[in-house]
Amino acid sequence: MATAPDQLLALPAAQIRAMSETDVPAVIEVERSSYQFPWSEGIFRDCLRVGYVCRVVVRSGELIGYGVMSSGAGEAHILNLCVRESERCRGIGRTLLEHLLARATAAGLSDAYLEVRPSNTAAIRLYQSLGFEPIGVRRGYYQAIGGREDAAVLKLALRGRRARIS
Ligand SMILES: CC(C)(COP(=O)(O)OP(=O)(O)OC[C@H]1O[C@@H](n2cnc3c(N)ncnc32)[C@H](O)[C@@H]1OP(=O)(O)O)[C@@H](O)C(=O)NCCC(=O)NCCS
Repeated sequence: MATAPDQLLALPAAQIRAMSETDVPAVIEVERSSYQFPWSEGIFRDCLRVGYVCRVVVRSGELIGYGVMSSGAGEAHILNLCVRESERCRGIGRTLLEHLLARATAAGLSDAYLEVRPSNTAAIRLYQSLGFEPIGVRRGYYQAIGGREDAAVLKLALRGRRARIS
């Protein structure tokens, strides 16, 4: 039987779909339990308002992950990627990121960029496994307890990638 295009292969019955305003409370709940310095509700609403690519992963009505990507000047920028803690290490983050990258590729964007805390080993492994490479450091980019933390800047060339959107 053919697989539905928006079905998440890693997790039967899970789907990726566009985020809507009504998802924001559930997004915020996952955001607050995932980051020490979470985005505010207003940031997510702004991302929706300006038309960034905002996607959620849902299973049986429960929101289990989300991602936000902006684009401009021929480049994509992955702004947020998050999976509910109890659902991690099941391929959801990878599938969601591949979905965003496929959209960027299909839109004809040339490169994807993102920032990540150098201490975020799980995220860095995921990004590097998809081909992202470190290209620099933004000094004091992130809030941190007692000061600021640098961001590693990673880049992925999108040209030549397949643009199949899952
Ligand atoms: C980063 C994050 C989105 C990964 O989501 P996930 O669904 O758990 O990731 P996946 O199961 O798809 O794993 C993909 C790859 O990431 C790496 N990875 C994921 N979790 C890892 C961990 N705990 N330790 C080491 N590597 C890990 C592995 O390379 C893995 O590939 P493998 O399964 O073949 O070994 C998730 O950990 C998360 O939401 N973290 C909190 C929010 C965050 O830090 N987001 C990134 C901000 S830049």
